[in-house]
Formats: sequence, structure tokens, C-alpha cells
Amino acid sequence: MADNNSIKIAVVGVGNLTSAMVQAIEYYKYNSTDDLMFPLLGGFTISDISVVAAYDIDKRKVGKDLAEAIFSPPNNESKAIDIPPTGVKVEKINTLDGVSQYATSVIKLSDEADVDLAESLIKSGAELLVLNTPSGANELAAYCAEAALNSNVGFINSTPSKIIQDNTWVRKFKDKRLPMIGDDLQSQAGGTIFHKGILEVLNEHGVKIKDTYQLDVSGGLEGLTTLEYERRNLKRRVKEDSIKRSLPYDINVAAGTTDYLDFLGSRRLGHYWVFGEGFLGNKVEIDIRMKTDDGANGAATLVDAVRAGKIALGRGVSGPVKSVCAHYFKAPPDFCSRTEAIEGFNAFVSGERES
Ligand SMILES: NC(=O)c1ccc[n+]([C@@H]2O[C@H](COP(=O)([O-])OP(=O)(O)OC[C@H]3O[C@@H](n4cnc5c(N)ncnc54)[C@H](O)[C@@H]3O)[C@@H](O)[C@H]2O)c1
Repeated sequence: MADNNSIKIAVVGVGNLTSAMVQAIEYYKYNSTDDLMFPLLGGFTISDISVVAAYDIDKRKVGKDLAEAIFSPPNNESKAIDIPPTGVKVEKINTLDGVSQYATSVIKLSDEADVDLAESLIKSGAELLVLNTPSGANELAAYCAEAALNSNVGFINSTPSKIIQDNTWVRKFKDKRLPMIGDDLQSQAGGTIFHKGILEVLNEHGVKIKDTYQLDVSGGLEGLTTLEYERRNLKRRVKEDSIKRSLPYDINVAAGTTDYLDFLGSRRLGHYWVFGEGFLGNKVEIDIRMKTDDGANGAATLVDAVRAGKIALGRGVSGPVKSVCAHYFKAPPDFCSRTEAIEGFNAFVSGERES
């Protein structure tokens, strides 16, 4: 199954995150990788990743070469590089719950026939399936996880749908001896990791955190998707839980997207507020504003997760690749501190730790 020279992936959802990932694969063929955390990870460069199949439902993407589809609306991820034709045509799969209440006004459904995902994956030769579909598309996530099992490919879940967190799925992937990584990607300068870092530093210096929030607005389709109540709550629960677990005591936390502003494009603006008490009852209050490009921010960690997935395939890891989940995902099977997560990930990459 595994070809040692490249990492063959299939991607479901050709949105902003996939756009940035595909651009990164091309970009780092020609640009210096010196500033990357991992120019090489397990012996693989970012450009060793090869997208061999891609799936979406929007007529402006389905049937197009992936190089064109990633720049088609409603995607609005910034363009870092032109991509030559890839030879990979975006295929249509079952829509299921992939379109949220508000996204119906923006997505134009393709009328092409659905392909059977498992059959198509087998034909493509993919080793890993990367799920980059909208938040809250739980039926779709389950359909894709089943297809990964039926086509014998490893699974990476960028979305907040519970796959790696669900013991039934874990058993199935273990039985098939396939690796799984997720749930809910943690971006490079991501709101959650940044928020946890601030709280951990203050806590380590004896400040007792009381209340905190992290609220953001964004202009990508995902921002519109998460305006829907249930989808927003799913994403919020994952973020809030991840933040709460960074402290040894309970605090009031609110975290998540609060609005969609189309004119922001791929930008996400996060507002952080932290309130705590220090020595002699000294009040500590922090306000921070962070602006990032959403797709690039996520692709930065996704390309590492993909390369780690290839390492796991090579080692025959079955079920959750726990160190990768803990370092790069918001809802891993086992929570630990950021420091432990980094150490665990490095130990996995060097081979000191199996998964
Ligand atoms: N920084 C990041 O980009 C980041 C970070 C963490 C997590 N995530 C997660 O990654 C996922 C993707 O994010 P995004 O910003 O690219 O979203 P997006 O809305 O830009 O892209 C989602 C894509 O999925 C497609 N889609 C919908 N239903 C489908 C179906 N049935 N089959 C195939 N494709 C379907 C949509 O047409 C769209 O192209 C989200 O769940 C998000 O929460 C992203």
C-alpha cells in the first residue's frame, strides 16, 4: 500500500483549507523551507505530499482540475502561487449534511452523479483520506470514515465531528489496522492553542484565572457555516473543552465564531479577553486582537499531520496516532499539556515512541 517516496492523499472538501494545503505543496517546491518547523518530517518534505483524488459538491469545483477548483468561489483563500494542472479532477460525492442552513445561499450544488467514495479511493491509490468538510457535517464525516475503512486508507479528521473521539470508530480502525488522526485541526497561530498558551503561562506564575473569552469573526464559508446554531455549538464545545483542560481548575470560558463578514475574505479576527487575580488580589486583565489568514494557518499544521500519518502507515500503527492528535488537534483521545504534546510528537517522529 505505502509508496516510500510520496504521500498519496485524497481530500474531501475543496474549500479554503484544501486550497492552502494544495498551494503549500507547490509553493515549497520553489521556496525556502528553512523557516519551517519541519523542513523534513520523517524524511518527507511538504512537496512529497501528492493529492491523488479530491471530492466536493459545488458545481464550480466538481469536474474541474484541482488546480482550478481551489481558486473557485466561494473559496476566498489568498493566492500564494499559481498551480499548474494537477491531472486530478474533483469528483462529486453524496451531499448528506454538507450544506448548512446559511451556506445554501452560497453553495451551488453540482448535478453530476455521485461517485462511490470507497470505490473511487481504491482506484486513486490514496493512502490517507483527509477530511476538510464543513463543521457539523457529522453524517458526512461518518460516511467518509466508513469509506476510508472500506478502501483501506488511513484517516485524518480536520473537522470537529467525533471520529477519533468515538470508541466505535476507534475499534473499527484498529480492527482494520489503519491509523486515524483528529479530531478538529489546531492551526499554527490558532485561536485555541494561543488561548491555552496565555492561560498556562499566567497559571504557572500563580495568577488565578476567573473568566475568559475568545470570540472571532471571519469571512470564509466556514464562518458562514458555523452561524448555524448546532454547528456553532459543536465547534464551541470542542474549543471550550480544549481551553478548560489547559488549567487544573474550572473557569468560565466562551470560545468560538460569533459572526460572518464576507468582506473579510479568508481573514479571521480573534478577540481575546482574560480576567484573573494575582498577588494581594491584584486584578489581571488582558485584551488581545489577532488577525490571521484562516486557510494558511490551518494548512501549516495539516501538512505535518499528513506527513505524520505517513510515518504511522509505515509503522503499521492501528487506531489513533495519539501523539499527533495531542499536538495538532483540539479534541485528541488523550489530553495533555502543550509541553507534553510537543515532547510526545517529537518522540513519535524520532521513533522513540510508537504512536
Ligand atoms: N484554519 C483552518 O482552516 C481550520 C482549522 C481547524 C479546523 N478546520 C476545519 O476544517 C474544515 C474545513 O475548513 P475550510 O475553511 O476549508 O471550510 P470551507 O467551508 O472553506 O470548505 C468546505 C468544503 O467542503 C465542501 N463540501 C460540503 N459538503 C460536501 C460533501 N458532501 N462532500 C464533499 N465536499 C463537501 C464545500 O463545498 C467546501 O468546498 C472545517 O470543518 C473546519 O472547522 C479548519
